[in-house]
Amino acid sequence: MEPSDRFAITLGEAIYSLRAIRRIKPDPIPDDDLLDVLDAARQAPNGGNSQPWHFLAIKDEQLRRQFGELYREAWWAKRADQGIHGPDDIDPTNRTTLSAMKFADEIGSVPAIVLVCATEQGAGAMGSVIPAVQNMLLAARALGVGGTITTLHPSVDDRVKELLDIPEGIQIVYAIPLGYPKGNFGPVTRKPLSEICSIDNWDNKIS
Ligand SMILES: Cc1cc2nc3c(=O)[nH]c(=O)nc-3n(C[C@H](O)[C@H](O)[C@H](O)COP(=O)(O)O)c2cc1C
Repeated sequence: MEPSDRFAITLGEAIYSLRAIRRIKPDPIPDDDLLDVLDAARQAPNGGNSQPWHFLAIKDEQLRRQFGELYREAWWAKRADQGIHGPDDIDPTNRTTLSAMKFADEIGSVPAIVLVCATEQGAGAMGSVIPAVQNMLLAARALGVGGTITTLHPSVDDRVKELLDIPEGIQIVYAIPLGYPKGNFGPVTRKPLSEICSIDNWDNKIS
């Protein structure tokens, strides 16, 4: 069976139910499914078809645990950059940040974490990995696998690279944890088209 035939839900269902999944079961993802998700990523559009990407899936339990510790450090380093130094500094109504904070403690037990790396410097390479990540998340969704886009912090980059033998000159752009959700997929909350779209002229908003 071709990988494309294995993504059996409709594109509409995948798009409209794709949301950030941070509560993830530890159950492993079958290798064939993980490879199909990575294969979907490499189909993505990219600058000049130079395919300036590398996808490193962390499956090994000990590596995931070690990566998880670095991820947690990175998460708090990003918060420190924003003047947030502990849970008490986080707005208790900000559910996304609270969920991401909890996830920073748990990411090491997610069955697979895909590091999406840019193999070239510059905006073209950075821009190219973004469609690949969306393909990856949609393909995962079609297989019942959830995840979210996450980033690291420069303070941990060298140690993550050392842990996984990532060569000099490679940039880790995103870390995508993948696994089976404890909750449900979608729907998402987004601004209405009338706020964010216009036709022919900026002021001609869609009503
Ligand atoms: C560029 C980018 C960086 C993100 N970084 C993180 C992150 O570091 N940690 C995290 O838990 N979620 C991260 N997210 C996920 C967003 O929080 C999520 O997509 C957003 O809140 C919408 O969530 P929803 O699709 O469930 O509505 C990131 C998303 C994007 C696009």
